[in-house]
Amino acid sequence: MRATAIAPANIALIKYWGRKDAKLRLPYAPSISMNLSACTTTTTVELSDAYVKDTVEFDGGFTEAEVKRVIRQLDLIRKKAGSSLKAHVTTKNSFPKSAGIASSASGFAALTLAAAKVFGLKLSQRELTKMARLGSGSACRSIPDGFVKWKDTYAYSLYPHGYWDLRDILVIVRHAVKDVSSSAGHDTVQTSPYFAQRLLQLPARITRVERALKEKNFRMLGEAAEEDCLDMHHVMQTQRPALMYWNDATKVIMNSIVGWRASGIPVYFTIDAGPNVHILCEANREKEILKLLGNSYQVIVNKPAEGAHIL
Ligand code: PMV
Repeated sequence: MRATAIAPANIALIKYWGRKDAKLRLPYAPSISMNLSACTTTTTVELSDAYVKDTVEFDGGFTEAEVKRVIRQLDLIRKKAGSSLKAHVTTKNSFPKSAGIASSASGFAALTLAAAKVFGLKLSQRELTKMARLGSGSACRSIPDGFVKWKDTYAYSLYPHGYWDLRDILVIVRHAVKDVSSSAGHDTVQTSPYFAQRLLQLPARITRVERALKEKNFRMLGEAAEEDCLDMHHVMQTQRPALMYWNDATKVIMNSIVGWRASGIPVYFTIDAGPNVHILCEANREKEILKLLGNSYQVIVNKPAEGAHIL
Protein backbone atom coordinates (compact mmCIF):
# COMPACT_ATOMS: atom_id res chain seq x y z
CA MET A 1 0.00 0.00 0.00
CA ARG A 2 1.51 3.28 -1.04
CA ALA A 3 0.53 6.83 -2.01
CA THR A 4 2.57 9.68 -3.46
CA ALA A 5 1.71 13.36 -3.17
CA ILE A 6 3.31 16.54 -4.47
CA ALA A 7 2.94 19.91 -2.75
CA PRO A 8 4.27 23.40 -3.50
CA ALA A 9 6.02 25.71 -1.07
CA ASN A 10 4.24 29.03 -0.71
CA ILE A 11 5.26 32.65 -0.28
CA ALA A 12 3.26 34.70 2.20
CA LEU A 13 2.08 38.11 0.97
CA ILE A 14 0.71 38.68 4.47
CA LYS A 15 2.96 36.84 6.91
CA TYR A 16 2.13 34.41 9.66
CA TRP A 17 4.36 35.33 12.55
CA GLY A 18 3.60 34.29 16.13
CA ARG A 19 1.05 31.82 17.35
CA LYS A 20 -1.44 32.11 20.16
CA ASP A 21 -1.38 28.33 20.68
CA ALA A 22 2.03 26.75 20.02
CA LYS A 23 0.86 23.14 20.17
CA LEU A 24 -2.13 23.65 17.88
CA ARG A 25 -0.18 26.16 15.75
CA LEU A 26 -2.99 28.69 15.84
CA PRO A 27 -1.97 32.10 14.45
CA TYR A 28 -2.70 35.47 16.03
CA ALA A 29 -3.91 36.76 12.67
CA PRO A 30 -4.83 35.53 9.18
CA SER A 31 -2.17 35.23 6.47
CA ILE A 32 -2.35 35.16 2.65
CA SER A 33 0.02 33.36 0.28
CA MET A 34 0.73 32.22 -3.26
CA ASN A 35 1.80 28.67 -4.08
CA LEU A 36 5.18 28.36 -5.83
CA SER A 37 5.38 26.23 -8.99
CA ALA A 38 9.12 25.50 -8.96
CA CYS A 39 9.62 24.75 -5.26
CA THR A 40 7.88 21.46 -4.56
CA THR A 41 8.17 18.42 -2.32
CA THR A 42 7.19 14.94 -3.49
CA THR A 43 6.52 12.38 -0.78
CA THR A 44 5.65 8.69 -0.89
CA VAL A 45 4.21 6.91 2.15
CA GLU A 46 4.27 3.14 2.04
CA LEU A 47 2.61 0.87 4.62
CA SER A 48 3.40 -2.74 5.32
CA ASP A 49 2.70 -5.09 8.22
CA ALA A 50 6.31 -6.22 7.77
CA TYR A 51 7.56 -2.82 9.02
CA VAL A 52 8.32 -2.76 12.73
CA LYS A 53 8.97 0.98 12.93
CA ASP A 54 8.54 4.14 10.90
CA THR A 55 11.47 5.05 8.66
CA VAL A 56 12.11 8.28 6.80
CA GLU A 57 14.34 8.73 3.77
CA PHE A 58 15.19 12.16 2.39
CA ASP A 59 17.65 12.92 -0.39
CA GLY A 60 18.91 15.98 1.49
CA GLY A 61 19.28 14.13 4.81
CA PHE A 62 17.17 14.71 7.90
CA THR A 63 18.25 15.59 11.44
CA GLU A 64 16.95 13.47 14.30
CA ALA A 65 14.57 16.25 15.32
CA GLU A 66 13.17 16.45 11.79
CA VAL A 67 12.57 12.70 11.68
CA LYS A 68 10.74 12.95 15.03
CA ARG A 69 8.52 15.69 13.63
CA VAL A 70 7.66 13.58 10.57
CA ILE A 71 6.80 10.59 12.79
CA ARG A 72 4.64 12.79 15.03
CA GLN A 73 2.63 13.80 11.96
CA LEU A 74 2.31 10.14 10.88
CA ASP A 75 1.11 9.28 14.41
CA LEU A 76 -1.67 11.87 14.19
CA ILE A 77 -2.94 10.47 10.92
CA ARG A 78 -2.50 6.85 11.96
CA LYS A 79 -4.48 7.50 15.14
CA LYS A 80 -7.30 9.16 13.23
CA ALA A 81 -7.40 6.15 10.88
CA GLY A 82 -7.40 3.70 13.81
CA SER A 83 -4.42 1.87 12.30
CA SER A 84 -1.25 0.48 13.84
CA LEU A 85 0.67 -0.04 10.58
CA LYS A 86 4.18 1.41 10.39
CA ALA A 87 5.31 3.44 7.39
CA HIS A 88 8.28 4.03 5.16
CA VAL A 89 8.41 7.65 3.99
CA THR A 90 10.50 8.78 1.02
CA THR A 91 10.67 12.46 0.26
CA LYS A 92 12.48 14.74 -2.15
CA ASN A 93 12.50 18.43 -2.94
CA SER A 94 12.69 20.06 -6.37
CA PHE A 95 15.19 22.49 -4.80
CA PRO A 96 18.32 21.69 -2.79
CA LYS A 97 17.78 21.62 0.98
CA SER A 98 21.04 23.52 1.34
CA ALA A 99 19.53 26.41 -0.62
CA GLY A 100 18.02 27.64 2.62
CA ILE A 101 14.48 27.62 1.26
CA ALA A 102 11.94 26.72 3.94
CA SER A 103 10.66 23.31 2.99
CA SER A 104 8.41 22.69 5.96
CA ALA A 105 5.32 24.02 4.15
CA SER A 106 5.65 21.84 1.04
CA GLY A 107 7.02 18.98 3.15
CA PHE A 108 4.19 18.74 5.66
CA ALA A 109 1.52 19.36 3.01
CA ALA A 110 2.82 16.49 0.84
CA LEU A 111 3.31 14.19 3.84
CA THR A 112 -0.17 14.87 5.23
CA LEU A 113 -1.88 14.27 1.89
CA ALA A 114 0.06 11.09 1.04
CA ALA A 115 -0.39 9.66 4.54
CA ALA A 116 -4.11 10.50 4.70
CA LYS A 117 -4.56 8.75 1.34
CA VAL A 118 -2.61 5.60 2.18
CA PHE A 119 -4.25 5.25 5.62
CA GLY A 120 -7.62 5.46 3.87
CA LEU A 121 -8.86 8.67 5.52
CA LYS A 122 -11.58 10.46 3.62
CA LEU A 123 -10.90 14.08 4.54
CA SER A 124 -12.33 17.24 3.00
CA GLN A 125 -9.80 19.81 1.80
CA ARG A 126 -10.57 21.90 4.87
CA GLU A 127 -9.84 18.98 7.18
CA LEU A 128 -6.59 18.30 5.32
CA THR A 129 -5.47 21.88 5.86
CA LYS A 130 -6.17 21.51 9.59
CA MET A 131 -4.07 18.34 9.73
CA ALA A 132 -1.19 19.86 7.74
CA ARG A 133 -1.24 22.91 10.06
CA LEU A 134 -0.40 20.68 13.02
CA GLY A 135 2.84 19.65 11.25
CA SER A 136 3.89 23.18 10.25
CA GLY A 137 1.67 26.26 10.33
CA SER A 138 2.38 27.50 6.82
CA ALA A 139 1.87 23.96 5.42
CA CYS A 140 -1.91 24.46 5.59
CA ARG A 141 -1.56 27.12 2.86
CA SER A 142 0.13 24.62 0.49
CA ILE A 143 -2.96 22.40 0.27
CA PRO A 144 -5.53 24.64 -1.55
CA ASP A 145 -5.09 25.95 -5.10
CA GLY A 146 -3.27 29.16 -6.12
CA PHE A 147 -3.82 32.16 -3.86
CA VAL A 148 -4.68 31.04 -0.35
CA LYS A 149 -5.91 32.52 2.93
CA TRP A 150 -5.30 30.90 6.31
CA LYS A 151 -7.73 32.01 8.96
CA ASP A 152 -7.82 30.50 12.45
CA THR A 153 -7.80 26.71 12.07
CA TYR A 154 -7.96 26.19 8.31
CA ALA A 155 -6.91 27.52 4.89
CA TYR A 156 -8.87 27.96 1.67
CA SER A 157 -8.30 29.12 -1.88
CA LEU A 158 -9.15 32.75 -2.65
CA TYR A 159 -8.36 32.36 -6.37
CA PRO A 160 -7.06 29.45 -8.48
CA HIS A 161 -3.45 29.47 -9.75
CA GLY A 162 -4.47 30.46 -13.28
CA TYR A 163 -6.24 33.58 -12.01
CA TRP A 164 -3.31 36.00 -12.25
CA ASP A 165 0.02 35.40 -14.04
CA LEU A 166 2.42 36.67 -11.40
CA ARG A 167 6.05 35.75 -10.85
CA ASP A 168 8.02 35.06 -7.72
CA ILE A 169 11.68 35.23 -8.72
CA LEU A 170 13.44 33.65 -5.78
CA VAL A 171 17.03 34.84 -5.39
CA ILE A 172 19.16 32.45 -3.37
CA VAL A 173 21.84 34.39 -1.56
CA ARG A 174 23.02 31.82 0.94
CA HIS A 175 23.36 28.07 0.66
CA ALA A 176 22.95 27.11 4.27
CA VAL A 177 20.29 25.99 6.66
CA LYS A 178 18.92 28.88 8.70
CA ASP A 179 20.35 29.54 12.17
CA VAL A 180 17.12 30.06 14.07
CA SER A 181 14.13 27.95 13.16
CA SER A 182 10.85 29.78 12.59
CA SER A 183 9.31 27.59 15.32
CA ALA A 184 11.66 29.11 17.92
CA GLY A 185 10.95 32.60 16.54
CA HIS A 186 7.16 32.22 16.79
CA ASP A 187 7.51 31.42 20.49
CA THR A 188 9.26 34.66 21.46
CA VAL A 189 7.18 37.04 19.34
CA GLN A 190 5.65 38.72 22.40
CA THR A 191 9.10 39.92 23.47
CA SER A 192 9.00 42.51 20.67
CA PRO A 193 7.37 45.76 21.80
CA TYR A 194 6.19 46.18 18.20
CA PHE A 195 4.21 42.97 17.91
CA ALA A 196 1.06 44.55 19.37
CA GLN A 197 1.40 47.35 16.79
CA ARG A 198 1.67 44.79 14.00
CA LEU A 199 -1.55 43.11 15.10
CA LEU A 200 -3.35 46.47 15.05
CA GLN A 201 -2.19 47.18 11.50
CA LEU A 202 -2.88 43.77 10.01
CA PRO A 203 -6.65 43.92 9.39
CA ALA A 204 -6.33 46.96 7.10
CA ARG A 205 -3.33 45.45 5.27
CA ILE A 206 -5.15 42.16 4.74
CA THR A 207 -8.08 44.07 3.26
CA ARG A 208 -5.66 45.83 0.88
CA VAL A 209 -4.18 42.52 -0.30
CA GLU A 210 -7.62 41.02 -0.81
CA ARG A 211 -8.75 44.06 -2.74
CA ALA A 212 -5.55 44.05 -4.84
CA LEU A 213 -6.11 40.39 -5.70
CA LYS A 214 -9.74 41.03 -6.58
CA GLU A 215 -8.89 43.98 -8.82
CA LYS A 216 -5.59 42.49 -10.06
CA ASN A 217 -3.95 45.72 -8.96
CA PHE A 218 -0.27 44.77 -8.87
CA ARG A 219 0.97 47.98 -7.34
CA MET A 220 -1.46 47.71 -4.46
CA LEU A 221 -0.48 44.08 -3.94
CA GLY A 222 3.26 44.69 -4.08
CA GLU A 223 3.14 47.69 -1.74
CA ALA A 224 1.13 45.82 0.88
CA ALA A 225 3.30 42.66 0.61
CA GLU A 226 6.57 44.57 0.89
CA GLU A 227 5.23 46.61 3.80
CA ASP A 228 4.17 43.44 5.59
CA CYS A 229 7.56 41.82 5.03
CA LEU A 230 9.36 44.82 6.53
CA ASP A 231 6.89 44.96 9.39
CA MET A 232 7.41 41.26 10.23
CA HIS A 233 11.21 41.64 10.07
CA HIS A 234 10.97 44.70 12.31
CA VAL A 235 9.20 42.52 14.87
CA MET A 236 11.77 39.75 14.38
CA GLN A 237 14.71 42.11 14.82
CA THR A 238 13.23 43.54 18.02
CA GLN A 239 12.43 40.17 19.60
CA ARG A 240 14.64 38.94 22.44
CA PRO A 241 16.86 37.27 21.36
CA ALA A 242 16.84 39.31 18.15
CA LEU A 243 16.28 37.38 14.93
CA MET A 244 18.32 38.84 12.11
CA TYR A 245 17.72 36.83 9.00
CA TRP A 246 19.16 39.22 6.40
CA ASN A 247 22.74 39.26 5.19
CA ASP A 248 24.64 41.79 3.06
CA ALA A 249 23.45 40.26 -0.21
CA THR A 250 19.83 40.41 1.01
CA LYS A 251 20.20 44.16 1.52
CA VAL A 252 21.95 44.71 -1.81
CA ILE A 253 19.04 43.05 -3.62
CA MET A 254 16.40 44.89 -1.59
CA ASN A 255 18.08 48.18 -2.51
CA SER A 256 18.31 47.20 -6.17
CA ILE A 257 14.58 46.50 -6.21
CA VAL A 258 13.80 49.88 -4.69
CA GLY A 259 16.03 51.44 -7.36
CA TRP A 260 14.40 49.54 -10.24
CA ARG A 261 11.03 50.65 -8.94
CA ALA A 262 12.18 54.28 -8.83
CA SER A 263 13.09 53.91 -12.51
CA GLY A 264 9.50 52.87 -13.27
CA ILE A 265 9.53 49.07 -13.08
CA PRO A 266 6.69 47.65 -10.97
CA VAL A 267 8.63 45.23 -8.78
CA TYR A 268 8.55 44.48 -5.04
CA PHE A 269 10.29 42.17 -2.58
CA THR A 270 9.29 39.91 0.25
CA ILE A 271 11.48 37.79 2.56
CA ASP A 272 10.66 34.93 4.94
CA ALA A 273 12.67 33.64 7.90
CA GLY A 274 15.94 33.57 5.98
CA PRO A 275 18.15 35.76 3.78
CA ASN A 276 16.73 34.78 0.36
CA VAL A 277 14.75 37.43 -1.51
CA HIS A 278 11.49 36.78 -3.33
CA ILE A 279 11.05 39.29 -6.15
CA LEU A 280 7.40 39.83 -7.02
CA CYS A 281 6.42 41.03 -10.49
CA GLU A 282 3.92 40.44 -13.26
CA ALA A 283 4.76 37.90 -15.98
CA ASN A 284 5.59 40.52 -18.62
CA ARG A 285 8.45 41.85 -16.44
CA GLU A 286 10.18 38.52 -15.82
CA LYS A 287 12.81 38.75 -18.59
CA GLU A 288 13.70 42.34 -17.80
CA ILE A 289 14.22 41.58 -14.11
CA LEU A 290 16.30 38.46 -14.78
CA LYS A 291 18.50 40.58 -17.02
CA LEU A 292 18.88 43.25 -14.34
CA LEU A 293 19.81 40.60 -11.78
CA GLY A 294 22.60 39.31 -14.01
CA ASN A 295 24.45 36.07 -13.39
CA SER A 296 25.66 36.66 -9.85
CA TYR A 297 22.89 34.73 -8.11
CA GLN A 298 21.11 31.42 -8.35
CA VAL A 299 17.45 32.13 -9.10
CA ILE A 300 14.31 30.01 -9.17
CA VAL A 301 11.42 31.44 -11.20
CA ASN A 302 8.02 30.54 -9.76
CA LYS A 303 4.52 30.97 -11.14
CA PRO A 304 1.34 30.62 -9.07
CA ALA A 305 0.74 26.90 -8.60
CA GLU A 306 -2.01 24.46 -7.79
CA GLY A 307 -2.13 23.04 -4.29
CA ALA A 308 -1.06 19.65 -3.00
CA HIS A 309 -2.35 16.67 -4.97
CA ILE A 310 -1.95 12.91 -5.25
CA LEU A 311 0.22 11.67 -8.10
O1 PMV B 1 5.19 27.53 9.20
P1 PMV B 1 6.40 28.06 9.87
O2 PMV B 1 6.40 27.77 11.33
O3 PMV B 1 7.67 27.64 9.19
O4 PMV B 1 6.36 29.66 9.81
C1 PMV B 1 6.50 30.38 8.62
C2 PMV B 1 6.78 31.79 8.90
C3 PMV B 1 7.13 32.66 7.71
O5 PMV B 1 7.63 31.91 6.63
C4 PMV B 1 8.23 33.61 8.17
C5 PMV B 1 5.95 33.50 7.26
C6 PMV B 1 4.87 32.78 6.50
O6 PMV B 1 3.71 33.16 6.66
O7 PMV B 1 5.17 31.87 5.71
